[in-house]
Amino acid sequence: MGHADYTLHTGTTGTTLSLDELWMPFTSNREFKADPRIVVRAEGMHYWDDRGNRIIDASSGLFCCAAGHARKEIAEAVHRQLGELDFVSPFLRAHPKSFELARRVAELTPGDLNRIFFVNSGSEAIDTAMKIALAYHQARGEAGRTMFVSRERAYHGVNFGGVALSGIVNNRRRYGPGVAGVVHMRHTQVPENRFTPGQGAHGAELADDLLRFVNLYGAENIAACFVEPIAGSSGCLVPPQGYLERLRRICDDHGILLVFDEVITGFGRTGQTFAAQSFAVTPDLMTMAKALTNAAQPMGAVAASERIHDTIMNAAQAGSIELFHGYTYSGHPAACAAGLATLDIYRRDGLFEHARALSPRFLDAMFSLEGSPHVTDIRGYGLFAAFDLAPDGAPGHRGFVLQKRLFDSGLNLKTTGDTCLVAPPFIASESDIDEIVSILRRTLASG
Ligand SMILES: Cc1ncc(COP(=O)(O)O)c(C=O)c1O
Repeated sequence: MGHADYTLHTGTTGTTLSLDELWMPFTSNREFKADPRIVVRAEGMHYWDDRGNRIIDASSGLFCCAAGHARKEIAEAVHRQLGELDFVSPFLRAHPKSFELARRVAELTPGDLNRIFFVNSGSEAIDTAMKIALAYHQARGEAGRTMFVSRERAYHGVNFGGVALSGIVNNRRRYGPGVAGVVHMRHTQVPENRFTPGQGAHGAELADDLLRFVNLYGAENIAACFVEPIAGSSGCLVPPQGYLERLRRICDDHGILLVFDEVITGFGRTGQTFAAQSFAVTPDLMTMAKALTNAAQPMGAVAASERIHDTIMNAAQAGSIELFHGYTYSGHPAACAAGLATLDIYRRDGLFEHARALSPRFLDAMFSLEGSPHVTDIRGYGLFAAFDLAPDGAPGHRGFVLQKRLFDSGLNLKTTGDTCLVAPPFIASESDIDEIVSILRRTLASG
């Protein structure tokens, strides 16, 4: 590829950037570099691009800036922390804020999911949860439980564990056999639930796929069943009524751990702190990331039940390391400071309550797009919705073109193939929702 110098107009000083060196993730690099969209500033509900255009952020960055962009309290907390203690090894050493944040997270989690393991991303949270599940079964003398059950259309990040669990073919097809022993249930997007807000009435029986695996492989070989309570990246697939309850029952009957990946749904997106609380189903392990720090610092976590934690602790010899796992940056001081400041904002400003109160208005507005050109389905729950577009030939092409046209019309959102994902920050007002939906309506209507 040739050299692609790009002049970034900041409004005050022109800076020349080369775009060649950066290999961008999940991006058509060649296309982007020929026609880039560069963001230079953010505040509240908005981004500003390098040409000075204001763009409303309809997907909270990547579902992570729930409290809105550039929160000063978080920036100041990180700044203070780095001046006081920049880093200490999380192995054999610790700093107070990691304990404090673990306690604050444990106060928010359902049931006895009170033991918190910090990581740096959702992908790492998934790998960590897989290891904890395996270690737990070993500790209780059921080392044969090594298989994992996941689901079609799942997105659990991009490390090898997450790719093995993943149910999105493009994320798997170039990377060999990966982790062995992972099987996939069917996804829950059933035609009978098209254009249904909230939980559809059809599809609870899809949970019985787990039972089929029990009958096919033997429960004694299955460690855990991983699901996103609402499948996020692949298109806001809201669980059918009764589905998660049924999964919970099958797991209980057969000694299988139920793991909720709450990387998107965690911290208020569903109107409660976690989707587990919205759907009144408590898992055994829960992964989280993204809105934990409002994305001001990379951070994720796994919440484990006290039972799982204690089983692993008690099986290890006194004085030995109980779980051989961890990252250099697990519980990094700056990330913990960001997490604490973020949780303070959520609580002080009542943002989860605001998300819950705004949800009916948001869903009404989103579902009013039914009938817009090419829209074949709409789904939504809490402050999260998605709509599908009929492919225009090559799968994903229409979605790709639309997200660029939307950005140029002043709206940022995430697309996955021909599916558009809308997840505004919780600080959104009714008029922000109106603006988002009117740009969507106009742009859909014009092409
Ligand atoms: C449900 C879910 N799990 C895991 C991940 C991976 O998180 P990360 O990109 O921070 O590794 C994501 C990312 O979007 C996600 O949506």
